[in-house]
Amino acid sequence: MLKRTHTCGAPRAEHAGTTVTLCGWVNTYRDQGKGLVFLDLRDRDGLCQVVFDLEDVPAEVVAAARSLRREDCIGVRGVMRARAGQANPRLATGEVELLASEIEVFNKAVDLPILPDEHDADKINEETRLKYRYIDLRRPRMQQILRTRHLVTKITRDYFGEHGFTEIETPLLIKSTPEGARDFIVPSRLHPGQWYALPQSPQLFKQILMVAGFDRYLQICRCLRDEDPRADRQAEFTQIDLEMSFVDREAVIQVMGGFVRTVWKKVLGYDIGEMPCMTWHEAMERFGVDRPDVRFGLEIRDVSDTVRSSDFEVFQRALAKQRTGRAGVVKCIRVPGGAEKLTRKMTDGYSDFVKQFKVGGVAVTKVGANGFESGVAKHVEPFRAALTQQLGLEVGDTLLLVADDWVTATKALGELRLKVGRDLNLIDHSLWKFLWVVDFPMFDWDDEGKRWVAMHHPFTSPNPDQFHMLESNPGACLSAGYDMVVNGSEIAGGSIRIHNMDVQDKVFKLIGLTKAEAEVKFGFLLSALRHGAPPHGGIAFGLDRLVMHLVGTDNIRDVIAFPKTQSGGDLMIDAPGPIDPQQITDCGMKLTLLDN
Ligand code: AMO
Repeated sequence: MLKRTHTCGAPRAEHAGTTVTLCGWVNTYRDQGKGLVFLDLRDRDGLCQVVFDLEDVPAEVVAAARSLRREDCIGVRGVMRARAGQANPRLATGEVELLASEIEVFNKAVDLPILPDEHDADKINEETRLKYRYIDLRRPRMQQILRTRHLVTKITRDYFGEHGFTEIETPLLIKSTPEGARDFIVPSRLHPGQWYALPQSPQLFKQILMVAGFDRYLQICRCLRDEDPRADRQAEFTQIDLEMSFVDREAVIQVMGGFVRTVWKKVLGYDIGEMPCMTWHEAMERFGVDRPDVRFGLEIRDVSDTVRSSDFEVFQRALAKQRTGRAGVVKCIRVPGGAEKLTRKMTDGYSDFVKQFKVGGVAVTKVGANGFESGVAKHVEPFRAALTQQLGLEVGDTLLLVADDWVTATKALGELRLKVGRDLNLIDHSLWKFLWVVDFPMFDWDDEGKRWVAMHHPFTSPNPDQFHMLESNPGACLSAGYDMVVNGSEIAGGSIRIHNMDVQDKVFKLIGLTKAEAEVKFGFLLSALRHGAPPHGGIAFGLDRLVMHLVGTDNIRDVIAFPKTQSGGDLMIDAPGPIDPQQITDCGMKLTLLDN
């Protein structure tokens, strides 16, 4: 077999006159019919032009060179020569070419279903790309993405290693973890009728590692959550999982901020600078979401008090609502210059758009020289002076108003704000806007279950000055949780944990878990907490999401070598699929499928 001496991206002018062997894939192929065959050979490192002078090489080399097709895998040996007068400035190797005298065809590529051409990627149906992932991954862009991913994991290990973290693996076959999604489950052959759950995160193990005295833990770990994949979500994804002992929120935020600063500096050469903290309440009020995109304005304003005496029935009905202890609201977004920028078709579309978030529609009106015009003008005209003062209205603005209970109206306007921002091209994509969201409520009220649910997970501690509120006013109790957000995307979430059993008992009680149930589910953690648990806290970054930002894609499948489709399938290996009936029998089970 021909033995490689250089990678395809390596040859430079100084290699002219030397004998080299290159190995790789035929990227392009041109038989010029004048006794010359040209090809660009590609490997992980780049491209190099190879020439066969068919009059100057043995017959078997001529035959092999003539039989080449794109994506054949070959080795070629010959002498590098300068491309005098014909240098290709677009190629790093463009000053030289390999005049080949030997060739070895390692493997022909038959019936190529797709070509790994960069400009073709968006035109190829994604299912085909996933089915033939080994060809798709040959594209330089995919290679660059997966190398960036590797770089991020390397920086992660270096940074946390330097900060005293120990990398420790935790098991995959475990019991259910409390991250709130469904578990993937695995039957046990040795314990017929018993099941393992695959980890939604290593949460409980990393807390136990703190009890075990490791002080600072790191794991780059696979997490499995049986939930519907979305653009930034996969059922199987990777976390950079961290936990620290003897720390408060500020200490965690400082170390983790330093990590992200290091990653952005080393990968993009970008200085993030300060990362401000915003309370959950402020994020919800101003941006309608707990992961605000602060790259643009269009902030949400609450005008409930201003329009409280309006005769508009929609407002009246909304203001009379009560949900999760909060009164109904009328909220709005002022779109500067909206009268010109937003067409009727767009604003009609916004009413349809918000319906998916369970509000009836958007009330629209424009600010004219002589008062509000069109839409709900007559209902808000009586409040023009107050609204102008509150919102700084100017002629030519459009007001988009949503009225409902606080939760529904806030969420719908948060989504609408993003849509209008995108529609009007208000988002500056060159910006990186990082922030910490803090002071989350400890609990969410579950209307259907009529009980509190932990907003993060039930091991999250209340803020140090809020412990007493667990009993007096759980709905207002704030947690010591924190999320890191960049450009409207949550890239990490964590909290200071409860290390005191009394507090833990109270939280379980509030979320409706009896002592006995808590013992069955998390007895091992509770036992550990009773054996000298240090105060501790931690966080987990979504590695896939970090890489998505760093390489500039909004499709999570782009940053995972072998991702799942929207319906959770792996098209290349054709999973999930049936298993051998014997495997079911071995687990002491019989399969009966229920009709859906
Ligand atoms: P959480 O559930 O917030 O916290 O997850 C932490 C981070 O992981 C990423 N992430 C995902 N990425 C891709 N696909 C998914 N399905 C997915 N789900 C989450 C997000 C998120 O911010 N044990 C806690 C962490 C802790 O408290 O320390 C946990 O898992 O970027």
